[in-house]
Amino acid sequence: MIVTDPLVATAALADGHLCAIPTETVYGLGANASNASAVAQVFEAKGRPTDHPLIVHVASLEQARQWITELPTWANELAKQCWPGPLTLVGPRTALATDDITGGQDTVAVRVPNHPLTLTVLEQLAAQGVHGVVAPSANKFGHVSPTTAQHVDNDLGAYLDSHQGVILDGGPSGVGVESTIVLATGQAPVVLRPGGITRKMITEITGLEVKESIADAPRVSGALSSHYSPSATVHLVDQSALTAVPSGGLIAFKEVATPAGLTRLSEPLTIDDFAATLYASLRKADELGLADIYVVEPTDEGLAEAIRDRLSRAAF
Ligand code: TXA
Ligand code: MG
Repeated sequence: MIVTDPLVATAALADGHLCAIPTETVYGLGANASNASAVAQVFEAKGRPTDHPLIVHVASLEQARQWITELPTWANELAKQCWPGPLTLVGPRTALATDDITGGQDTVAVRVPNHPLTLTVLEQLAAQGVHGVVAPSANKFGHVSPTTAQHVDNDLGAYLDSHQGVILDGGPSGVGVESTIVLATGQAPVVLRPGGITRKMITEITGLEVKESIADAPRVSGALSSHYSPSATVHLVDQSALTAVPSGGLIAFKEVATPAGLTRLSEPLTIDDFAATLYASLRKADELGLADIYVVEPTDEGLAEAIRDRLSRAAF
């Protein structure tokens, strides 16, 4: 059931049911992080392997400190400047972060999402003694992440309806790709997943060089080679190759003309638009029954890195 009242969402979560929550990145499938059977439902609903750790969503940096034992000064500064916003910090866990959340790792991922309805829900829950809400993207495991309540309903509606779960509709997600995951256990930031907060922003805020994801970095399910996948086959192509393509869908900046035979799925003007419309465009191809999607990727740095990261996995 899709609802618009945050009080209904708060009540569902407090009662141990699932509630899909809107965030600025993508919709999350929320559960009270301290309720083991609710957390178990998250894995069941998504069909997600249970050793894949979850992100805990909280209302403030103060609340994040209940989950992470200590943050280096640079990470503290990052949190202060970027939260609420598309940043996830991975730090050493407190006793609140149980094995079912962390996949048995001794670190936990935490973020403060930037969406007014969800912040209201998190604050209402905090007032009732609920310390946080785990929320992976609210899609079936391996599928394209949802950026509208309808996307969530398409993927998980049947499960939610049969388990007293609800979907809180907060409109389309503004950023459109998942949060940047930063490992905050060392002397410099390590990006485990690129996202809405860019490397440049991290360096500007912390004054530190951002490291590449290290070889022994903790598991990140979004880091599997194949992920974020529609049923249609995704092809990453140069604009010049488009004329040789007989049929399918096209995702490219507006300046790229649509060749005869191709169905335009999106025509963003800016990189922000590209990210915000990407997942809806991939889903639209499936709704239209297209077998192939051709994407002319953005080439710059910043948000384009996150877009290329997701597209390479969607195309794998
Ligand atoms: O923008 C987002 O981050 C969205 C919204 C709903 O907040 N959430 C999201 O969750 O993308 P999910 O579960 O689809 O991806 C979370 C990623 C996973 O790849 C997981 O492996 C990683 O975070 N993760 C969680 N805990 C971790 C940890 N302790 N160490 C390393 N990675 C971790
Ligand atoms: Mg996901």
